[in-house]
Amino acid sequence: MKTYKIDLIPGDGVGIEVVREGRKALEKLGAMADVKFEFNELPWSCEYYLKHGVMMPEDGLKILDDCDAILLGAVGFPGVSDVVSAQNLLFPIRRGFDQYVNMRPIKLLPGLVSPIKNDKIDFVVVRENSEGEYCSEGCITEDPVKGKKVIQNSIFTQLGTERIMRYAYEYAVKHGKTKVLSATKSNALKYSMVFWDEVQEQVKKDYPQIESSKMHIDALTGKFIMRPDDLEVVVASNLFGDILTDLGSAMLGSIGISPSGNINPTGEHPSMFEPIHGSAPDIAGRGIANPMGTLWAVNMMLDQLGEHALADALMDAMCAVLVAGKIRTPDLGGTSSTSEFGDAVCAALK
Ligand code: IPM
Ligand code: MG
Repeated sequence: MKTYKIDLIPGDGVGIEVVREGRKALEKLGAMADVKFEFNELPWSCEYYLKHGVMMPEDGLKILDDCDAILLGAVGFPGVSDVVSAQNLLFPIRRGFDQYVNMRPIKLLPGLVSPIKNDKIDFVVVRENSEGEYCSEGCITEDPVKGKKVIQNSIFTQLGTERIMRYAYEYAVKHGKTKVLSATKSNALKYSMVFWDEVQEQVKKDYPQIESSKMHIDALTGKFIMRPDDLEVVVASNLFGDILTDLGSAMLGSIGISPSGNINPTGEHPSMFEPIHGSAPDIAGRGIANPMGTLWAVNMMLDQLGEHALADALMDAMCAVLVAGKIRTPDLGGTSSTSEFGDAVCAALK
């Protein structure tokens, strides 16, 4: 029997509640399909940090490295600074495993109602996930006149920028898409985004069949709302992609809907899947978080593992529950709990 080793990092807050539903769906799929998912649940979180002084053990990456995929809930909780949880767990995994692509589909599934008028929404954001504005370099100095002077660097390398651009174009070709739109801000960021545009100019030459364009990030947020039907593949830097995808998920009705695949395209290290939402301390522990983002992340994980039939089965089950319309979490105007939604999806699996 085919066996996959899945490492689970539920993390903090609602992360724990939604990963439980992701695991349940994998267990049910495994039982139905003669595939075995072996889980290794890791307690790495802010709670772990308060006990041990670290978000994960020193050999954390070594522990994760032999699994087939990682499912993460969310990290961050009051009592531990957000910068600590991200810098000591999320980014070390994304960077350490060279998960340089952060794939974020934004698609209005059947049964969902978009808060915006133009509801032809079906595109992907290919977010750079290893450098850019998230490079974690900078310094604090002193300006003789203005006082404290804080510098936050951005790093855009030829390799880092070219590989994400190329991934976006390759994705377009493989998935029968016709356009790639790059998110830029080269009118204001005279080094980083001017270079970003130059790399797009180089790379697009290899894809004459794909319509290439770029748009400044401010105008692009407007386009997301006004003309989402015109979007197919959006390629964006780390920070721009982060912002655009919260907007994208909100366009589907809730931040709880969208998934995210931190992909290592070479397969040299495992990829990590997670909902795009955070740990939501305001609703944590109440059992009302929407598990859709996690279930969709599991769908992406199954696709990446090559289990396409299982991935489709999970997506079909989720759509069936949405179309039936009875079971919805409060963020979508319903009264169902996290586990009621998860159970309904499991019951609809065929
Ligand atoms: C995301 C999150 C993270 C990010 C945070 C928690 C650092 O917002 O995955 O989108 O900015 O990458
Ligand atoms: Mg985000």
